[in-house]
Amino acid sequence: MTTSTFHRAIETVEHLRLKLPAQLAKPRVAIICGSGLGGLAETVDGKVREEWAYRDVPGFPVSTVPGHEGRLIFSTMTERQVPVVLLVGRAHFYEGYNMDTVTFATRVCKLLGVETMLLTNAAGGLNPDYSVGDIVCLNDHLNLAGLVGFHPLRGPNEQDFGVRFPPLSDAYDISLRQLAHRSWRDLRQQQPSERRMHEGVYAFVAGPSYETRAECRMLRQMGADVVGMSTVPEIIVARHCGMRVLAFSLVTNSAVLTPTVRADDPELQGLSRAELDEHMGRGRANHEEVLEAGRLAAVDMQGLVLRIVAEL
Ligand code: 6GU
Repeated sequence: MTTSTFHRAIETVEHLRLKLPAQLAKPRVAIICGSGLGGLAETVDGKVREEWAYRDVPGFPVSTVPGHEGRLIFSTMTERQVPVVLLVGRAHFYEGYNMDTVTFATRVCKLLGVETMLLTNAAGGLNPDYSVGDIVCLNDHLNLAGLVGFHPLRGPNEQDFGVRFPPLSDAYDISLRQLAHRSWRDLRQQQPSERRMHEGVYAFVAGPSYETRAECRMLRQMGADVVGMSTVPEIIVARHCGMRVLAFSLVTNSAVLTPTVRADDPELQGLSRAELDEHMGRGRANHEEVLEAGRLAAVDMQGLVLRIVAEL
């Protein structure tokens, strides 16, 4: 018989607790740091700290993407010494992991005693009002991969975690979102910047390619404000087992919402090959710009998360 995810998660928790001091053994908050947002690890300044590489944690996935190095950090945050666990880097579905592996760390968090999950990711902006560098507090999602069968709860229900048919209409905790807006306002008063915070809908796609122009228009018409390749599986699994969820996207680039280019467009006739390549390359998404936006936003993200944890 294969062991259930529940039992594998218990084994991982037992392994971790062998080394964790009592103060850190039951973190209240888990923080998942997305692409280029690993700098959040520097905000955990507790005197006590334990750290593992994912490869040394039973059942944890070893990430395969540059900029996604996997580290599991236990420490405390804020003056109140809130015990937290940080997950720096995550496994993505596009890397070839199944949904069970992508969400394993979330279930370990539940069994450690975590009540609240704060998730961050890098995402493409679809809402034309958003600028690169803005932060979007998620208030809903489109689980596109899930709707066609790649769903983290597919298979026999893990009854020890939750019910067969969990609701998701209240997945994005409204009081945590209010706290996020208050924290952002306070932070802005202390250190003004151009960066804005919005609320919006996240479309989860499997990746790993970025979207075509037609796909971007489709996602926007469906009601998405940002698009990305993570977070939704973890949120669903977190809600399944009753944790509260707050998630932020950093807008790292703008998805291209202008029409697909027509080869018979009169404006393009007579352009050289190089000029045509230049024209087609405008707005093209790439991983480097995603990481760079993360680096620039890191300080604000850190300030925001710190304030939120202080009020939890
Ligand atoms: Cl434009 N698309 C997707 N799927 N993920 C992203 C992104 C875009 N930008 C950052 N992550």
